[in-house]
Amino acid sequence: MSLLIKNGTIVTAVDEFIGDILIEEEKIIAIGKNLDNKVDQVVDATGKYVLPGGVDQHVHYSFDFKGEKVRGFETSNAAIVGGTTTVIEFVDQKPGKGIAETIFDYDKTEVSKLAMVDYSFHGVICEPTDELFEEIPTLPDKGLTTIKLFMAYKGLPNHSDDEAIFKALKASKDAGITVMVHAENADVIDVLQKEYISKGQTDPYFHALSRPPLVEVEATQRAINLAALAEAPIYIVHVTAKEVMETIRTSHNNGIPVYGETCTHYLMLDKEDLARPNFEGAKYVCSPALRSESDRNALWEAINNGWLNAVSSDHCGFNWETQKHMGVDNFTYIPNGSPGIQNRLGILWTYGVNTGRISRQRLVDLYATTPARINGLAHRKGHIGVGMDADIVLYEPNHTSIITNETSLHGVDFNIYEGFKQEGKVDKVYLRGKLMVNDGKFIGEQGEGSFIPGTPFGLCYEGDKTEKQLQPINKG
Ligand code: URP
Ligand code: ZN
Ligand code: ZN
Repeated sequence: MSLLIKNGTIVTAVDEFIGDILIEEEKIIAIGKNLDNKVDQVVDATGKYVLPGGVDQHVHYSFDFKGEKVRGFETSNAAIVGGTTTVIEFVDQKPGKGIAETIFDYDKTEVSKLAMVDYSFHGVICEPTDELFEEIPTLPDKGLTTIKLFMAYKGLPNHSDDEAIFKALKASKDAGITVMVHAENADVIDVLQKEYISKGQTDPYFHALSRPPLVEVEATQRAINLAALAEAPIYIVHVTAKEVMETIRTSHNNGIPVYGETCTHYLMLDKEDLARPNFEGAKYVCSPALRSESDRNALWEAINNGWLNAVSSDHCGFNWETQKHMGVDNFTYIPNGSPGIQNRLGILWTYGVNTGRISRQRLVDLYATTPARINGLAHRKGHIGVGMDADIVLYEPNHTSIITNETSLHGVDFNIYEGFKQEGKVDKVYLRGKLMVNDGKFIGEQGEGSFIPGTPFGLCYEGDKTEKQLQPINKG
């Protein structure tokens, strides 16, 4: 099957030009002007932006919070109608099993049958045994190149202490594995939660008060210190607040290879959303908590300036009626996390590009190119270039709609962006050359997504350490 996408405005992380893209089977084989190869199909993209398929590196399709499980890959059509063609899913290590065994069991029994996007995995450490630390350097041979640890969630199986984080950093660095952390001080949160509950302050709003920005700053700085001690790079997921971003920026400027992302909801929503009446606030319970308008402004500035490197969804599909209500009398039982996988591109376009906060190039970098690179997928994903997978989004800019749960495919009974305006729409999406979304409608099938093995990105200390000369290197 060959395909020619003609006359679209092709956008990459560094440039933009009107041109044609020639696709043969699953790959882009030529990019140029006035290509007139004989092909099976020609698509006219005049007036449309042609973007690489998005890479969402922070997705939960198997997260378990106090026994409540999120919607899984059977809802991954929501990702692709939103312009995301690759997701990277966090998989908690199962009791008594290694990381690779846990992940590939899950892939075999569930993911490969259901996925409607391509996918890769982050292994989440739950059992920090000697065997586990011996396994870590072997993971890249299996295409697994990232490890995640939760500093938050005291009492849950995936919570990690400093010893586990330090050992994971040491075990990972020579293999080029990137260690990611959810940085919040779990002990302080636990004390504050108990104080609020004992005073009868049980509403969703107290979720935010029990995890103020300083618990995130403290854990972020600690994680960076552990990384510096281990001489390993570190990646901080879902950065929410100005001071946290500044902690990362300062350390990075001082030569520590620390990187960070924020998420769409931290750019768009506030702590005040947690105060919505009739338990509606529970829809916005995620961790770290939503912050303030000034934090949101600081995050927009940070993603524009490269002080944060990516924007993810942290998609977490818990239902409000049946699952968020577990915490109706006690906010600590509200499952943490909110859905958002379908809305990442539309939000960044509408409230980033169209307000002048970021350029289209920056959007592409934040939503596709850098996430692909950091997660070792840049050899196939995140960029429109010859030899890359033909994962392509045609974005129609002259369209306005209102975001609503009625058109959301995430299988959850609410959308946190309900009522927000969206400018432009995802018109067509190709996954490895196959049309999966047409006129905004999903037309693919379950199981069409594939596992994409990563190659270690190796954000490593390199060169003269005394001069703190730190270079990202690609070992792949
Ligand atoms: O509240 C959130 N973010 N839930 C998902 C799990 C996590 O902490 O990333
Ligand atoms: Zn987290
Ligand atoms: Zn998350």
